[in-house]
Amino acid sequence: MAGSAPYARYNVAIVRDLADSLAGQALRMNKDQGQSVDMEKARQEHKHYTDTLRSIDGLQLVELSGDSSLPDCVFVEDAAVVCGDTALLTRPGAPSRRAEVNSVKQALQQLNFNIVEMKDETATLDGGDVLFTGREFFVGLSSRTNQRGAQILADVFKDYVVIPVDVTGTLHLKTFCTMAGPDLIAIGSSVEAQKTLKEMLKLTTYNYTTLILPDDEAANCVYLNSPEKGHILLHRTAKEFPESAKRFKSLTNYTLIPVSNTELAKVDGSLTCCSILLNKGA
Ligand code: GLY
Repeated sequence: MAGSAPYARYNVAIVRDLADSLAGQALRMNKDQGQSVDMEKARQEHKHYTDTLRSIDGLQLVELSGDSSLPDCVFVEDAAVVCGDTALLTRPGAPSRRAEVNSVKQALQQLNFNIVEMKDETATLDGGDVLFTGREFFVGLSSRTNQRGAQILADVFKDYVVIPVDVTGTLHLKTFCTMAGPDLIAIGSSVEAQKTLKEMLKLTTYNYTTLILPDDEAANCVYLNSPEKGHILLHRTAKEFPESAKRFKSLTNYTLIPVSNTELAKVDGSLTCCSILLNKGA
């Protein structure tokens, strides 16, 4: 593992306001069964999310403004993959999302990251498909991310093995699979999630522990390691996913922070989607 900081020790979080156009125009996987987004509630939930990040010791927030011409712009995670001192600006799979990268690029330039841009027009990559475990990258091959995108990521982050895995039945790899701690993979229980997990465990050489959540959506959680509090996990609330919330309680020595995400979930947004967490100066 490069560097000596603990896994997921971050000092900057990039977040972005919701676009006013989100409710009407954000992309949805399932266009027919869409429930309407309550924008006021969405803004409250997003404020709670950003306030929670702001309250974590040592974490500085970089807050970008929303842009009505970019309905999905709150989901900053998809625009860049940052590891060490390098930021790879992605080429998002959805053409309507490509211009989201510009503001994120400016923020990362101001933070002095080495910027690499994915310019190959045959490549697509969404940050939501990129799971960095601290040891290696898993990249979900999904409707948004292709082999060429995964290859470019491997070329940029040469210190790490990059393992492409198939993702079906959901938007991104991280929609049902995230890291809940060092070497601890949180994953949903659906057939599709378990199929991806099986492939991940077959292709890796590391021994990960798994935290299987009854609900796929709850497996998208945000893990951070803070200098004062150690393990911190933002996870979906007991009201949204009662059985999964019980499972999180098995994590001892964690500060568990329930965060509600009912509104952005309607447009396929998960907790990790709304921030890029990085360690400036790592
Ligand atoms: N609405 C999130 C996405 O489709 O990328």
